[in-house]
This record gives sequence, structure tokens and C-alpha cells, in this order.
Amino acid sequence: MSKTILILPGDGIGPEIIAEAVKVLECLRDDFGLAIEMQQALVGGCAYDATGSPLPEETLNQAKAADAVLLGAVGGAKWEPLPIAVRPEKGLLGLRAGLGLFANLRPAILYPQLAAASTLKPDVVAGLDLMIIRELTGGIYFGQPRGVETLDSGERRGFNTLVYSESEIERICRVAFDIAMKRNKRVCSVDKANVLEATELWREVATQVGQDYPEVELSHMYVDNAAMQLVRAPKQFDVMVTTNMFGDILSDCAAMLTGSIGMLPSAALNESGQGMYEPIHGSAPDIAGKGVANPLATILSVAMMLRYSLAAPEQAERIEKAVEKVLDQGLRSADLASPGATTVGTAAMGDAVVAALREAR
Ligand code: IPM
Ligand code: MG
Repeated sequence: MSKTILILPGDGIGPEIIAEAVKVLECLRDDFGLAIEMQQALVGGCAYDATGSPLPEETLNQAKAADAVLLGAVGGAKWEPLPIAVRPEKGLLGLRAGLGLFANLRPAILYPQLAAASTLKPDVVAGLDLMIIRELTGGIYFGQPRGVETLDSGERRGFNTLVYSESEIERICRVAFDIAMKRNKRVCSVDKANVLEATELWREVATQVGQDYPEVELSHMYVDNAAMQLVRAPKQFDVMVTTNMFGDILSDCAAMLTGSIGMLPSAALNESGQGMYEPIHGSAPDIAGKGVANPLATILSVAMMLRYSLAAPEQAERIEKAVEKVLDQGLRSADLASPGATTVGTAAMGDAVVAALREAR
């Protein structure tokens, strides 16, 4: 039976990079027997412009009915004056909450072909392969109460709430330990247990879950130290698991270790393995419409989708091999331009991946 993929191009460079990922999916469908059906819908600023909502009900319903969602990016300067409740980002957060996508997998891998792209010394990052597991539907992003209130004095006060229940912590920690079992069997749980009670509980629950995984070595780290360790000696980490906001911050930091945020995919999964896949980078309004964005993070997000939601790991491997091949050929998008390499645009990069897939037939 064929699987349904909902495609959400979004804003900025979203439509450009998604077009290349769709080429790859079409190639797998037409040449490699992948049974899929694709639908498209609106999310983010373009959805707000068309319907007044960054997440139209129809889009959410289509997403719920799909086996997986592929998202480009949302947001841009045009919508910055809008109140938070209808900002493009709200579309993304609404999808995460609406689909219950609590587990965010953000790998940071340094491709040997791109070793020179990092701002860190090559020996610090060579061979880097770490996985950040970010809790995605709880914590301060969603905690109540929240808002801005006016005090009797007339001064305004803004507030948000960091809240985690034991079950929320437990399920994300299980994801981290399960993934560590398939990797190098080390989990570092990141918190601020010396200051925040919610993360004191986090540490306690992480420790309890760890008892079910005697083969996995569990360590704990305060988030400030973790940020420092990520740039000091990132290869000490295998799997990191952390809260929604700490994960947001640390994953940007980890992405830049590889020098190429344009290369990194991500997955957001719910209890039933349904997932939303997107590149880690954003909508990059400064280069939107120019045809120069790097589509590889989105194409690699398709690989994660095939592996985690569509039970097609052999198709995922095809994509990953094809991406390595185009890197070996010396093709680079503008973000990774380097002397001796050939700089190509978004569409040419997508075409090269498709050609590499076909050649491997
Ligand atoms: C991310 C982004 C989002 C987040 C924004 C766009 C809402 O930064 O996916 O990391 O903060 O989660
Ligand atoms: Mg972020």
C-alpha cells in the first residue's frame, strides 16, 4: 500500500529546497519502486497571507492523516511585526503540538569531504557524529501560564513557565536510550538541575530510565557546561538528550561544528512513529528566490523520513550514498563554496543527486 507524504514548502527558501527533495522522492518512486503519494499544503507566512492563519485547519488535518510530513522552512521579515499568536513559527509549533511530535532527532555529522568548512580546528571535529535528542512538545515553549500582563504600577511584565511531567521526561529519555543502543551506547542528559526544579526532576527521571539500559553509560551535564564542552571537545558526546529550549540552543551550536548548517536534517516523531522532517536551517530570507540555497539538508531529511516513518531503510541509504557521491564529485552549493570545488545552484545540486541515484541502479 502506498504511503502518503504531506509536503509543506513554507516560506523563504522553503519552496526551492523542497522542489529538489521532491525530485528525489519522484526518482525513488519512478525508478526504485517506492510506493508513495505526495500532497501539498500551506504552512507559515504563506498560509497566513492566504488564510489568516499560519496553520490552517485543513493543513493540520492533512498532516494528521499523512504517514509523514516534509517541511521546508517558515518565517521571514515580512511577518515579524505580527503578534506571536499568528507568526509563521506558530504554524510549526502548532504542527509539533497537534501531531504530538515530542521527540526531535537532530544529528550533527561532519562529512569528511567538508572538514575544512568548520570554524573549529579539523582535529577537534574530524569524525564528529553526534545525535541531539530534543524534547519538542513541552517545557517553556508550551508551559502555562504565559503572557504579558500590566501591573498596578502600570509596568508590564512578561512571563513563561518551564514545566515537565515525569511521563514527558521519561518518554523522551527512552527515545534517547533506544537510539544510543544502536550507536555508541552513551547518553549525556543536559539540564540546569542546580537552579531549576523542573530539571532537577528531569535528572532524577533520566537516572531512573537509565537503570533499564545497563549497557548504556549515562552522564549528566549542566547546560552552560554542555555548551562549552560542545565547542571544546564535541567528540566526547554520542547522544545528548535535553529540554525543548536547551535543545533549540545546543542544536544550533552543534550544527555549526560541522560548518554546514545547510547539510543537517532533522526528524520529529510521535508515539506511533509518524513524523515531520525538516532541514535544521531556517527560511534564509536573504537568499530566497535566488536559486543558491543548499538543498542537501532537505534531501537528507527525506532519508530520515524513509528510515524512521516509512520503514524503507534501503531507500534512505540510497539517498545518503548519492549525497556523498555528489560531495566526492566536488559539487558545492554557495554556503560551502571552496577553492577547487564547483559551486552549483539549488536545482543543479538536486539534479546531481538524482543523477547519482540513477547511476547506482
Ligand atoms: C527550530 C527553530 C524553531 C524553534 C522556531 C522557528 C520556532 O528555531 O526548529 O530550532 O525554536 O523550535
Ligand atoms: Mg532553533
